[in-house]
Amino acid sequence: MKIHVFDSQYEAGLYAALMAKRTIMEREKPVLGLATGATSIPFYSALVQSCHDGLDFSRVTTVNLDELVGIGADDPRSYRYFMQHRLFSRVNILPENAHVPNGLAIDEAAECARYDRVIDAHTPDLQILGIGGNGHIGFNEPGCALLARTHVIRLHRDTVTANARAFPMLDDYPSRAITVGVTDIFRAARIVLMAFGEKKADIVARAIEDPITTHIPASLLRLHANVTVLLDRASADRLSPSITTGIKLKEGRLTQVEM
Ligand code: F6R
Repeated sequence: MKIHVFDSQYEAGLYAALMAKRTIMEREKPVLGLATGATSIPFYSALVQSCHDGLDFSRVTTVNLDELVGIGADDPRSYRYFMQHRLFSRVNILPENAHVPNGLAIDEAAECARYDRVIDAHTPDLQILGIGGNGHIGFNEPGCALLARTHVIRLHRDTVTANARAFPMLDDYPSRAITVGVTDIFRAARIVLMAFGEKKADIVARAIEDPITTHIPASLLRLHANVTVLLDRASADRLSPSITTGIKLKEGRLTQVEM
């Protein structure tokens, strides 16, 4: 596991976007596994800029981790909406290549099985992850047991509260989500976990330095062969300095990424 600490979220997002850019340029049919949430915003901004600078998304397939149950693409709370506005409508990806679970599916089991087939056909070369305040990845919430493949989960109350914070005017925030499972996440060739801000410092330190446990799903990532963790100073605050590498922009630019 490589752990890089940046001066700002912007730089960490830029670094993740450079990793995605390299993946897109190196693979014939690149597949990006994507997350939503505040943490991913600098990454998407940098990725959109790469497209404006000439990066071609016409061969790219994306597979999102999760979607809230009961809301659709027109609802600003939905992850499809987030992705549409942050990325899909701003790059030249083909709409049929941008996969997000369907939160409005009547038959949830059938939708999970369908999404498993999507992942089987499009296993990510690079998987982007955020981390919940309780250590969740995707919406694999902490517990005694985690599920391998796509499933519907009842979100922990803290997760609902954290997510709903961005929508103060909206009541009835969805409490269930369709999420890929931990095996799905682990199938990615490379994983990038990002976390920013003081409120993530404790869970980042526990995920990286405490014993590996399903009660902190992100800690399982230490069992994957190729994980890069991108942090800002605040989220890295409680980690032992000896296990982190600092990365700085040179003349306002990041030119190289380590993969
Ligand atoms: C969202 C997802 C979640 C988020 C996590 C962090 O698609 O998979 O695991 O990455 O809840 O969310 P933020 O970035 O909003 O703190």
